This record gives sequence, structure tokens and C-alpha cells, in this order.
Amino acid sequence: MPKTTRPPSSPNLTRKKTTVLTLHQMKQRGEKIAMLTAYDYPTARTLEQAAVDVILVGDSLGMVVLGYSNTLPVTMDDMLHHCRAVARGATTPLLIGDMPFMSYQASTQEAVHNAGRFLQEAGMDAVKLEGGQEHLPTIRAIISAGIPVMGHLGLTPQSIHQFGGFKPQGLLVDTARVMVENAQFLQTAGCFSIVLESIPQELAAYVSQHLDIPTIGIGAGSGCDGQVLVSHDVLGLFDHFRPSFAKRYADLNSEMNKAFTMYIDEVKSGQFPGEEHQMCMPKEEWQAFLDENEN
Ligand code: KIV
Repeated sequence: MPKTTRPPSSPNLTRKKTTVLTLHQMKQRGEKIAMLTAYDYPTARTLEQAAVDVILVGDSLGMVVLGYSNTLPVTMDDMLHHCRAVARGATTPLLIGDMPFMSYQASTQEAVHNAGRFLQEAGMDAVKLEGGQEHLPTIRAIISAGIPVMGHLGLTPQSIHQFGGFKPQGLLVDTARVMVENAQFLQTAGCFSIVLESIPQELAAYVSQHLDIPTIGIGAGSGCDGQVLVSHDVLGLFDHFRPSFAKRYADLNSEMNKAFTMYIDEVKSGQFPGEEHQMCMPKEEWQAFLDENEN
């Protein structure tokens, strides 16, 4: 079984580990929770250095890393592979693994087994899964196995075919009522937190005020207890499609394009590698080599 070893040199060892309890206390204190996605070792390290509270290894990796048009093709193997890399890069944030499509829908037994793999094989602290009332028995079973579960309501991307696309949810009174009921069901089932994605801000604020557990919003307004964004959107690394709710804090795509173009130009012109990027054999060794080979 593959082991997740965390390098002892990880930065931020003085920072205390964020746990599900920490998030609960942050909500009680009114302190906002900052969560971001990561899919690899260097991003996890940088997020830890930046002191993010929670890292989600989201199945959004299917779109922003693997190039699929939605999250449905992502497998358990894909998720575990990326979770292991993230767990090697960060130790102090709470690490959450996203359960991919069909890893928890077919049977409760399979769901518990797959959820366990995130902790046992991939160094995660908790799992997230999409949906409400329809998954309560599964969620209860996973929690009974000692695995913390984060819920996810609203625009749940694994159900895009049911929604008819990536569309905001909870805009009408009936759907808003169901959202509130589902949030309460998830809390009662034992979820430690709920992601609210792409729902009206009034509704997200209402849900947040009526729950004891923290809500983490994405496209759900400022009334949530915390916020999450996909790191590639934050960094300007994913230019296929930009959700209106995602704020871009950098334009790394242009920076990467500049760097790659410069490299290609320098290779073509012979400017790279320069003296500082090359090494020489000791003079006498080179002479001996020439004597051997040129006579
Ligand atoms: O997969 C993901 O990154 C997510 C977040 C957008 C909440 O589920």
C-alpha cells in the first residue's frame, strides 16, 4: 500500500494544526475561514506558507489539471494520487479529499471503503461529498467509521446533467426551502461543515445563521462562515472558463507564457545555456580524453 510520508522540513511547524474543532471554534468567534484547492506538492507548500486554514483536493482537478470538460471522469485513483502529493506538501491546514463521482453513490459499503482510503492511503484528514438528504445513510456510515465529512449543497458539479449545466441553484422559494432542509439534515447527520456553491447570498447567509457548523461559500456571498475558490482561478491559470464569482489575484498564465517564450527564443538563439549554467571537466582529464581519442 503506498505510504504518504511528510517531509520533516515542511515549513510552518510552529503553526498549530487546523482540525474540524478549530473550524467550529472559528465560527463561534466569528473568524472567517479561508479555504483553497490544491492538487500538487508545490502548491500545497505555498498554501501552507501563506497560512491557509483548509486545503481541499477538489475533484475540480478533472477540469483545471486533467483537462476534462467536467468533473465526472475523475476516478478514485486520480484523487488519491493528487491527495498524496498535497499531503507531502502541507501538514498544518486541514486537508480534505473530495470524493469523486460514483465513489459513494452506488453503495454505502463502497462509500465507507473509499472514504477510508483518503485517510489511510492519501494523508487526508476528512472527505467531502456532494448532495443532501439522498446521501444521509452514507454520510452517517462514513462518520460512524470515524471519518469527518464536509457536505456540499447548491451547484453540485457531479449533478450537472440533472441541472442542465453549471447553473446557480436555490433561486426560487421551493428550491431555497429544500436547500435549508438539506443543510439541517447534513448538520444533524454529523457533517462538520458544508460548502454552499452558487446560491443566492441571502439564502447562504440565512443557512449560515441557522447552523452551528461552519458554511464555506463559493459564489454564495459574504454571509458564509468562510470562502473557498479553485486556486487555478485565483492565480489566473485556467482560461477556458472563468466563473463570475471567482476573483483573479494574479495572471500566471501570462507570466508562464512570457517565461516559456523567452526560454524558447534563447534556446533558438544559442543564448541559453550561458556560462553559469554549464560545467567543465578538470583540464587534465579533458586533455587525457583528447589524447586518448584523437591519436
Ligand atoms: O472540486 C472542488 O474544487 C470543489 C470546490 C469548488 C468547492 O468542490
